[in-house]
Amino acid sequence: MICRRTLLGSGLALGASVLGGRAAAAEEPLRLRAAPSRAQLAPNGYPETPVWAYDNKIPGPEIRLRQGTRVVRRLVNELPQPTSIHWHGVRIDNAMDGVPGLTQDAVPPGAEFDYEFTVPDAGTFWYHTHNRSWEQLARGLAGPLIVEETTSPDVDAELTLFVSDWRLDQSAALTEDFGAMHDQSHQGRIGNMLTVNGAFDRATPVRRHQRLRIRLINAATDRVIYLGLAGLEGWVLALDGMPLEAPQPAGNFVLSPAQRVDLFVDVTAESGDEGVLVQYERGSGYALASFPVTDGSRARRPAPVALPLNAMPDLRVAPTRSVDFRMEGGAMRGLPNGAVFEGQKLSMRDLMLAGQFWATNGVAGMPDSPLFILHQGEAVRLPLVNDTAFPHAIHAHGHHFREIGEDALGPWRDTILVDPGETREIALVGDNPGNWLIHCHMLNHQAAGMKTWFQVS
Ligand code: C2O
Ligand code: CU
Repeated sequence: MICRRTLLGSGLALGASVLGGRAAAAEEPLRLRAAPSRAQLAPNGYPETPVWAYDNKIPGPEIRLRQGTRVVRRLVNELPQPTSIHWHGVRIDNAMDGVPGLTQDAVPPGAEFDYEFTVPDAGTFWYHTHNRSWEQLARGLAGPLIVEETTSPDVDAELTLFVSDWRLDQSAALTEDFGAMHDQSHQGRIGNMLTVNGAFDRATPVRRHQRLRIRLINAATDRVIYLGLAGLEGWVLALDGMPLEAPQPAGNFVLSPAQRVDLFVDVTAESGDEGVLVQYERGSGYALASFPVTDGSRARRPAPVALPLNAMPDLRVAPTRSVDFRMEGGAMRGLPNGAVFEGQKLSMRDLMLAGQFWATNGVAGMPDSPLFILHQGEAVRLPLVNDTAFPHAIHAHGHHFREIGEDALGPWRDTILVDPGETREIALVGDNPGNWLIHCHMLNHQAAGMKTWFQVS
């Protein structure tokens, strides 16, 4: 059973569909202007939402290029706050990673910063603000970064679906409670409206048996999304930008904040019916994006073959060196033994006064020294121990990693969801020199302490 989605609890019936595929990529600007703007996020009939956007677009303009080529963008900051851009998932030159305090200074209002880097891997990536991201990303500062394979796979159409989560009031304005203590200490800023490519109701007309490549990006600040397909037969081709060795049937799947999946889907719904990307929430399924089937069909293809693999480091067995990564704190558990914050041991009460609710290995916020140092090419295993009552989405910058499974290593990822009470062990090869953040991508958790860094020398 798939229900119509409702908005702001109003139960408003929605008929409006946004028809038509994604417009052909416009001329790529060499500037990326971050500025206040407005966007029609809620359905027609609601007011526009004041947002912060790149180039006045929600999501920001799709940056699309070929594997091995260069991204060149001048960030122009016309926001009232300093900002920076992180190119999520790109195994990037450290100086271009966009982390204020670690790889660059935040770009003040009125100033500019030139980003220029090579994209080594083909895949689905994204870019987003990395300064006050719990607020700036919640206001809209994010967009897709698509790196094409040198030979394009056999599909009829390709679309990027960029999922954002907004917390709107009755006039469709963003609620200004960014960084609220309750959000930061619980599951983060969970919104009340998801959009796909900035639109509430997204429909793409298709023909029966067409094969689509869908690049799905969870750009929510804090929300985990639970997804499935109806009227579509799907395969997972890549996770977090990295192709799987063999495509897997899609089934139902989970995307934590910052995770991506590349799906190939064959339209199996009948003409007059629709395929649906279903979002599951509290036992109901909602159409996050729909694919109405128009007349005409094409011959079915055989199941897809794998995408060409990216050149990843040699990591086939679990490394021996192990470094703990223990997540603590948050509502329900707290930090009864306190934690170190900015070089000082603080009590839980003083941590709360400093807006810190989470710690990694007993440290809230950025430690002075890295959690671990790797020599170029050295591998490490990190048991990610979630000793809290909430899930966390742990993201490493500049590197992908593999989960250490029972008898094999899992797929390459840059973000992994660790449920409460769970330990997920990952293996990472430090092959990219520099200082790299590793943090929870629930951005309110990151802001409230759950972040640290490592160094590759
Ligand atoms: Cu998507 Cu630290 O970033
Ligand atoms: Cu978290």
